[in-house]
Amino acid sequence: MSSSASANAAELALRRQHQILDHLRGESHPEINPKTTISHIAIYGAGIMGSGIVQVAAQSGYQVTLWDVTQANIDSGIHAIRTSLSKIARKTGQPADWVQSILTRISSTTDQLAACASADLVIEAVVENLSIKQDLLSHLDTVAKPTCIFATNTSSLLVADVAAKLNDERRQRTVALHFFNPVAVMKLVEIAYMDGTDPALLALLKAWVLDIGKVPVLCRDTPGFIVNRLLVPYNIEARQLVERGDATIEDVDTAMKLGAGYPMGPFELMDMTGLDTGYHIMKAWYGAAPGLAKDPRFKPSPEMEQMISSGYLGRKSGRGYYVYD
Ligand code: CAA
Repeated sequence: MSSSASANAAELALRRQHQILDHLRGESHPEINPKTTISHIAIYGAGIMGSGIVQVAAQSGYQVTLWDVTQANIDSGIHAIRTSLSKIARKTGQPADWVQSILTRISSTTDQLAACASADLVIEAVVENLSIKQDLLSHLDTVAKPTCIFATNTSSLLVADVAAKLNDERRQRTVALHFFNPVAVMKLVEIAYMDGTDPALLALLKAWVLDIGKVPVLCRDTPGFIVNRLLVPYNIEARQLVERGDATIEDVDTAMKLGAGYPMGPFELMDMTGLDTGYHIMKAWYGAAPGLAKDPRFKPSPEMEQMISSGYLGRKSGRGYYVYD
């Protein structure tokens, strides 16, 4: 491509982005009822994020099917949902059958294709591995309805890469819907879009996010979107402070809670989100992320590699920067 052609393409992409933002900025789209388009949602991955997304969707009246590789994973996801719903029921004084009434909207299966056959929206929240996500979505593409929207809950990969094996029509209906941990509590959902994404699809998804009681923000398809693009370097700086021996883990956490008003210190947060999650993000960015590849900040340190290989993944494994019962 000549330099003037590539400048034109870049200008077109920018203009398109501005059109999307102009179309959506400040508009609440009260005319859009997402339930007329989306009634059945298939969610892939019963881990912390997948089960959290199942919960908030079912709580808001959607029929949800949860898929995972093993029944044991599904059982553990459903157990987490039941525990979280029971906590909310106690706190908000819900009637005795409230938890069960939400659980009845959730079905589950280990049959990958059956889970999405009648879905209007698919959200994948499987392990943060590009080829696993690509293969999963291209497999689902063979049976999903043509109108079905595909979404990835990736925390670090580009939507364009996750959608790379999909046909053109499906790719245009693919976005990121990025939730935050703990999903039941955190109000934000990032909607990340590609240059060719239809603004009408974004308007629908904004309305859907509002309908499940969350607040949407839009971001172009860039590594880490908004939150992780800022949070990951912050976590890395915290780790380097400790690795250099400048301060202790406990003092860094106390400092950020009491000095910056954060609800958790960076080490408490990394333990909650999982050290493996942060590690996969850093490896992906250091390896190939546009503008970030080979940036030495994102090269996992030997100390971090050591923790991962020892299985110190945070709360979920009982030990990370802190030890948990
Ligand atoms: N289900 C239901 N309710 C829950 C819950 C769950 N899983 N977890 C917490 N809660 C409720 C509690 O019941 C409590 O409710 P009340 O205040 O009404 O009593 C409330 O949330 C606060 O919880 P706690 O009192 O137990 O503890 P806390 O005040 O320390 O809050 C926290 C916990 C909400 C997690 C808070 O510490 C916080 O906001 N931390 C930061 C979390 C964060 O930054 N998340 C984003 C991580 S990045 C990410 O997820 C993206 C990625 O790609 C990795």
